[in-house]
Amino acid sequence: MDQAKAPLLDALADYHRSERYGFSPPGHRQGRGADERALAVLGKDPFRDDVLASGGLDDRMSRGGFLSDAEDLMAEAVGADSAFFSTCGSSLSVKAAMMAVAGGHSGGLLLSRDSHKSVVAGLIMSGVQPRWITPQWDAERHFSHPPSPEQVEQAWQDYPDASGALVVSPSPYGTCADLAGIAKVCHDRGKPLIVDEAWGAHLPFHEDLPTWAMDAGADVCVVSVHKMGAGFEQGSVFHLQGDLVDPHRLSKCADLLMTTSPNVMVYAALDAWRRQMVERGHDMLGAALELAADVRARIEQISDVEVLDDELLGEQASHDLDRLQVLMDIAATGTSGYQGLDWMREHCQLDLGMSDHRRMLATMSFADDRHTVERLHGALSSWREAARHFDPPPPIDLPTPEEIQLDTAILPRDAFFGATEMVPAEKAAGRVAAEQITPYPPGIPAVVPGEMLNDAVVDYLRSGAAAGMTLPDASDATAQHFRVVA
Ligand SMILES: Cc1ncc(COP(=O)(O)O)c(C=O)c1O
Repeated sequence: MDQAKAPLLDALADYHRSERYGFSPPGHRQGRGADERALAVLGKDPFRDDVLASGGLDDRMSRGGFLSDAEDLMAEAVGADSAFFSTCGSSLSVKAAMMAVAGGHSGGLLLSRDSHKSVVAGLIMSGVQPRWITPQWDAERHFSHPPSPEQVEQAWQDYPDASGALVVSPSPYGTCADLAGIAKVCHDRGKPLIVDEAWGAHLPFHEDLPTWAMDAGADVCVVSVHKMGAGFEQGSVFHLQGDLVDPHRLSKCADLLMTTSPNVMVYAALDAWRRQMVERGHDMLGAALELAADVRARIEQISDVEVLDDELLGEQASHDLDRLQVLMDIAATGTSGYQGLDWMREHCQLDLGMSDHRRMLATMSFADDRHTVERLHGALSSWREAARHFDPPPPIDLPTPEEIQLDTAILPRDAFFGATEMVPAEKAAGRVAAEQITPYPPGIPAVVPGEMLNDAVVDYLRSGAAAGMTLPDASDATAQHFRVVA
């Protein structure tokens, strides 16, 4: 195929060139009807490019094939059999993949317990039974690593009737699983592997980045192009290969969840990103990796800041690491990541990706350069000085690896949709949670509906919320009360 082409971008240019007009949505009519105060902030271009996908950009039967051509080009560029574009984030793509593999099967789905909240939402919507794979725990750093092939094999031995497995790799921290090993374990049983690769859109385009799921033999993987690529927010692609997952079933499952009004700009940016990466991605990502190596070394010189690298790798830890994710352990400063992020936002107008009680994460992109990196280093240096005068952060009661693994009592769907009640934290242990509770970011639920709460997790969430942890999906974000099955 001609990778120099970008069918969706070209179609949009043609739409403008031919002065097309539609008596159809969107009602703003390419900005004519938009409020001038909106135009003053957003500009005219986003409205101009916001056109109807079929019956606008393409004809009513999509006979131009712009979307399908762009998807084929994407699949070829990354070595997949097929690719589907989605404008609803990996949150949708991962649910579609889960439903395609496990929907309607009683055996359930093997899932790593460090899955994102969108996976838990998929369990609630589909009624699929989770069969959790225990992640690997670094108890000292209070950090989980993706499961090993041996742990996935153990899960298959425990639940041989599960319809497939889903793992997250890279994690939001950039740590990666041994995907080739896990794919082999699954394929030895003739079962498919889904990889939630939301943080890995860039992986196919540079050999010094961790292995791309399709190269490792996964059957389906989903990527958020807006995270590590140049897509707009919500731009996601799911890739498919082999014959263990039916492409028609996958696209039907996606269709159940998808909007009927996809944003053409989101589609076009996916198309543009693919062409950019094919033509220049290797150089751009190579430069980004060099810049990241440099900034990692410089940040490490800041007193009491440890940039995590080899510490994250090993047999009982992660298999590989995306070094564009600069994860800093700041425990030695005696302050928390929450305090650090808040301080830099307020005093340096700089936002970092994630924080927790002892870490901060700066996510580098191929779009960063010397100037942005200087700004990061300068802000971190100023924070370090200021942090000497921070009040000690409120302590968080951290559960042990055993305590944080709650028992699943009933199906997430039954817990979520059944009768519920709120109980005070002191009375929550022993009750079955009716909602997910997710420290965000990174969005890995501490509690999944259907799990039996215990005191250690309740105390963790309650003390965490008091120390600055955000719990956006809990009915009570202060964790003083918990929603449980009545
Ligand atoms: C591991 C993982 N999977 C899925 C998602 C959902 O992706 P999106 O924001 O594109 O919907 C996220 C988002 O942070 C994530 O971290």
